[in-house]
Amino acid sequence: MVLAAPLGPARFAALRGVVWALCLFPLARLVWLAAFGGLGANPIEFVSRYTGTWTLVALVLTLSITPLRQLTGWVELIRLRRLVGLFAFFYASLHFLNWIAVDQFFDWPAMLKDIAKRPFITVGFAAFVLLIPLAMTSTDAARRRLKRNWSRLHTLVYAVPVLGVLHYWWLVKQGVQTPLPLTVAVALVLGWRLLMWTRTR
Ligand code: HEM
Repeated sequence: MVLAAPLGPARFAALRGVVWALCLFPLARLVWLAAFGGLGANPIEFVSRYTGTWTLVALVLTLSITPLRQLTGWVELIRLRRLVGLFAFFYASLHFLNWIAVDQFFDWPAMLKDIAKRPFITVGFAAFVLLIPLAMTSTDAARRRLKRNWSRLHTLVYAVPVLGVLHYWWLVKQGVQTPLPLTVAVALVLGWRLLMWTRTR
């Protein structure tokens, strides 16, 4: 392990600014595409796919921070994990809202039917529901209040990308391999944790 030197408050604040900008970039691009007619022939599907993909990407990035910290010894990295994780929740919320408002027109009975009947919706919904308590307890105050239960609760974060990947494979047509790169990425970040866990035991 290489021990990286701390950046210092000013440089760390600059790095934080860069991470904010990178996390906001997909949103800015979506707004740009919407404003200039770049959402294609089926804008609902475009937004659904776009926000779904970015949710999964942000989840993978969140889960990459611990392995990166362990590999580089750069402890400050961990202070960026909450930020990226909250962006994953933000894109998941946009994805879900697009489905509720634009795809389903707030037709609650139809939505409940869809969640119960279409397995890919059931799994996506389960992933979103699991993200809610994680986002709600992401503050320092919640961490202090929950003590050891905080870590227990936050192990749920490993289930979310697994459900996300399952959701993705379920919704693509047979033979389509587009979920593969993100599936490999999820397997790598979770595989690393499994390796570390077996080593410490
Ligand atoms: C953490 C939660 C979720 C993740 C990670 C996720 C991820 C994804 C991904 C990666 C895609 C496909 C993108 C592509 O084709 O390029 C997608 C599509 C989609 N998701 Fe989700 N999703 C989540 C939650 C949900 C929820 C809660 C719903 C609705 C209840 C939902 C409904 C849909 C729909 C309707 C599509 C588009 C299907 C199509 O027309 O091709 N997802 N999602």
